[in-house]
Amino acid sequence: MTLSAVEAGAGLRAALSRPPAEVVDQMVASGMRGRGGAGFPTGLKWRLAAEADAPDGRRYVVCNADEGEPGTFKDRVLLAKHADLVLEGMTIAGYAIGAREGLLYLRAEYVYLRDSLLDSLRERREQGLLGREVAPGFDFDIRVHMGAGAYVCGEESALLESLEGRRGEPRDRPPYPVVRGLHGAPTVVNNVETFAWATAVLARGPEWFASIGTHRSTGPKLLSVSGDVARPGVYEFPLGVPIAEVLRAAGGTDAKAVVVGGAAGSCVPASEFGRTVSYEDVATGGAFIVLGPDRDLIDVAENVAEFFADESCGQCAPCRLGTVALLDGVRRLRAGNCTPDDVARLRRLGATMRLTSKCGLGQSSPNVFLSLLEHFPADMRVPVGTGGE
Ligand SMILES: Cc1cc2nc3c(=O)[nH]c(=O)nc-3n(C[C@H](O)[C@H](O)[C@H](O)COP(=O)(O)O)c2cc1C
Ligand code: SF4
Repeated sequence: MTLSAVEAGAGLRAALSRPPAEVVDQMVASGMRGRGGAGFPTGLKWRLAAEADAPDGRRYVVCNADEGEPGTFKDRVLLAKHADLVLEGMTIAGYAIGAREGLLYLRAEYVYLRDSLLDSLRERREQGLLGREVAPGFDFDIRVHMGAGAYVCGEESALLESLEGRRGEPRDRPPYPVVRGLHGAPTVVNNVETFAWATAVLARGPEWFASIGTHRSTGPKLLSVSGDVARPGVYEFPLGVPIAEVLRAAGGTDAKAVVVGGAAGSCVPASEFGRTVSYEDVATGGAFIVLGPDRDLIDVAENVAEFFADESCGQCAPCRLGTVALLDGVRRLRAGNCTPDDVARLRRLGATMRLTSKCGLGQSSPNVFLSLLEHFPADMRVPVGTGGE
């Protein structure tokens, strides 16, 4: 992993040797986009938070370590093996935007990582890398906050609600967290991997990062490869890597399909394995679930539909009702109880949920279902004669 070769402390030293605005400029020049899934440009996010009005001078840095997407486990590996790079990236962000406080929101199931993270924080304080006067005029410290097991709390505004001690439900946006985030103050929320690569960008320079990947998707990306492969695990590839190449590396070349992006992603059939993992083609926060030739894909559709019906926070109707209706639809398809009109209605329902749900959970919940209907009608028991809509 490239991150293993990044010298500890080099990124923070490089950051502190220049004014905060130049650190932001470096992040912008790297072209980096967030590694949590949505792919928002990281430098721009930091700039917006740095420039947002902060009436009482407070700003926050939040590390999203909720990692609830089914099929994603690269953040867990980073926190276990490269916690210092993540904490260093948070500190760099704090310096860049003028924050004094960082919070790491840790997925409930990762509670076993808390003690080692607290040890890393203690050591960093002892080394003067956190706490008072990390640099002249720059105080910064980090706390770990435990999640409680809800997928929706990975959505950044629900995460902030949870951090403030309320029920984790997505907020209305705008205002976005960079303008009004934690306790109403400008807040940068970034993924674990984003902070680790930010450290690498400062340590090695933005040109190095931008020279990897494609024009619109710069840098390396960690992929959590799981499912029907000989060698599951966390892999690093330049963004823009063809799906077929990931399958070759992991030993899954006989795959029938890959779910790229987890439950919120989409199902890519073998005929499209030449497509690339990138923001301009098939985007993913890291999940890469391989489905072998013997998989019955209606099982996948039902599993994903159950997940969303369970995890919908219930705040808005398209998602609260739609996720249950989609699950019911998958079960009726399996039982052979769907007419061509029913299938057309399910497609329309999915399109409506995408358009009208309040947050990314509901908007992405029909993705796997709709892609399976499109590419695998036989597995999905779509009755013959169903017209496309
Ligand atoms: C339902 C839902 C769950 C999410 N879960 C995560 C998560 O576990 N980790 C994460 O980094 N981002 C997650 N996100 C995306 C965050 O809202 C946000 O875009 C991200 O933390 C920003 O970081 P980045 O710019 O570094 O990618 C989730 C979004 C949604 C809609
Ligand atoms: S889309 Fe779903 S998870 Fe998001 S606010 Fe609406 S009900 Fe809650």
